[in-house]
Amino acid sequence: MKGVVLAGGTGSRLNPLTRVTNKHLLPIYDKPMVYYPIQTLVNAGVHEILLVTGGKNAGDFLRLLGNGRDFGLKHLNYTYQEGEGGIADALALAEHFAEGDSICVILGDNIIENNICRAVANFAKQKEGAKILLKEVTDAQRFGVAEVRGEHVVGIEEKPKRPKSNYAVIGIYLYDHSVFQKIRRLKPSGRGELEITDVNNFYIEEGKLTYEVLEGWWTDAGTFDSLLRANTLVAETGANKPSRTGEEQLATDRVLR
Ligand code: G1P
Repeated sequence: MKGVVLAGGTGSRLNPLTRVTNKHLLPIYDKPMVYYPIQTLVNAGVHEILLVTGGKNAGDFLRLLGNGRDFGLKHLNYTYQEGEGGIADALALAEHFAEGDSICVILGDNIIENNICRAVANFAKQKEGAKILLKEVTDAQRFGVAEVRGEHVVGIEEKPKRPKSNYAVIGIYLYDHSVFQKIRRLKPSGRGELEITDVNNFYIEEGKLTYEVLEGWWTDAGTFDSLLRANTLVAETGANKPSRTGEEQLATDRVLR
């Protein structure tokens, strides 16, 4: 499995913080924001990573991250998103990097307390389709929201006025290689973007989307309130805790090998 970190966008909801830099370079407590999603992948045993960025500050990522030595990586890959096409448009740039492999995609402003080892290990057993991660929230209107019936997600709505559940779809997605064909079928949404939610709904139509509920806290950091929340959570409890026992980590290493 390969990893893709999406760190483009204008960060317009954080203006003027993002006028002269990229959102994902802003600090979250003691590290730049983009460090957390990269660490999430590395902790799950995903070491081949592509960073997708864009805008005027793309070169700063190279200066900051280099070949990923801070994460114990030997190499990091970079690509550049022209324009503002949305999450799925940015992901399309990862097709040649994926080379038919499955991918773990993480949004560059998504930070978690723990790790995704179990989800990655379970997805590896799934063979095809996709897996999303859910988290109960009190402000579901801000997110993609999953309608869950028993073991299944029956639909996802992007930022619904009346959410059908409290389960936000967090910005960590596991996909088989068919994700790139699905992106080619997308049409821009009301906000003019290719939506990752539409990709996930294609998987639901095929009956190939599974889900897990994430343990520990999760936050994004794309608004002033969530940026503050992210800083407070990381400062108070720390982020990216590896698996408690190491057993999950071992299981992940086995299936990824
Ligand atoms: C994006 C996705 C949304 C998801 C969220 C998680 O929203 O479109 O489905 O719940 O990330 O952070 P955005 O941050 O682009 O508004």
